[in-house]
Amino acid sequence: MKETAYLLGHSATEEQRLRRQTQELSAEASWLFDQLDIPAGARVIDLGCGPSGVLEDLSARVGSAGTVVGLERSGDTVALARAFMAERGLHNVTLVEGDARATGLPHGSFDLVHARLVLVNVPRPEEIVREMVALARPGGMVASHEADYSSHRCDPPCEAWDRLLDVYQENSRDGGIDPFLGRRTHRMFREAGLTDIQVRPLVHVYPPGHSRRDIFVRFIENVRPALIEGGRIEAKELDALLATVVAHLAREDVLVISHLFFQVWGRKAEAASS
Ligand SMILES: C[S@@+](CC[C@H](N)C(=O)[O-])C[C@H]1O[C@@H](n2cnc3c(N)ncnc32)[C@H](O)[C@@H]1O
Repeated sequence: MKETAYLLGHSATEEQRLRRQTQELSAEASWLFDQLDIPAGARVIDLGCGPSGVLEDLSARVGSAGTVVGLERSGDTVALARAFMAERGLHNVTLVEGDARATGLPHGSFDLVHARLVLVNVPRPEEIVREMVALARPGGMVASHEADYSSHRCDPPCEAWDRLLDVYQENSRDGGIDPFLGRRTHRMFREAGLTDIQVRPLVHVYPPGHSRRDIFVRFIENVRPALIEGGRIEAKELDALLATVVAHLAREDVLVISHLFFQVWGRKAEAASS
């Protein structure tokens, strides 16, 4: 097995999709943050923050006395995020280029550690969860929003979609990535020592006109070189399947069912009193 460092890549179209995702998932992010205790003045961090992610929402919550750190492994994405923060005048946000597995940031220092749609796209996600817990202060919160591919299908079904999904999932697994990670995030949190763990499942439908209706097509385009170079599928077959899926999605009677998402949050135990 050859590990894939990060599944979806950093093409300009992918970065634009992530910018759109900030809007598309903003109500859910806001709901999750409402469940957590994030007072003005808090110190929070978002790992794998992407070009905008949840940084603006967190910035507003912690206010001018607080700090938001956005950590991201891609230098180009950090530059996009910095430009976004400058454009919005979000002076309490600091962007850091780094690896979420070993951030080098002070452990035990954040009131909230958050990551969204990172663990499902990387190998060895447990190492990131361990670092998330280490970064939280005693009594602080750790929260995530992750995906699970089990429900991502369309109705009426489409054989080309199903074949592409099989190939996509095989490619993920061979790269050490778990496409069904969402359902076990709660367990990873527990194993990393968090308590008071809460889980909220989410599923959506993407009818004609929905901005996320073609998300699976975008993902296949992102991993296309890996699928072909890895000998998983011939370019000709992949393109024919994609064309069939695109035609299927253009039909008014086709409904796309989203991934199954899990928002999971828990608390790091207070330090034992001596
Ligand atoms: C699917 S995007 C999600 C971005 C953002 N969290 C959001 O919800 O819009 C995943 C991001 O995690 C970043 N990433 C992947 N592995 C990482 C790691 N080991 N350390 C830091 N960032 C990582 C990727 O570069 C990418 O920008």
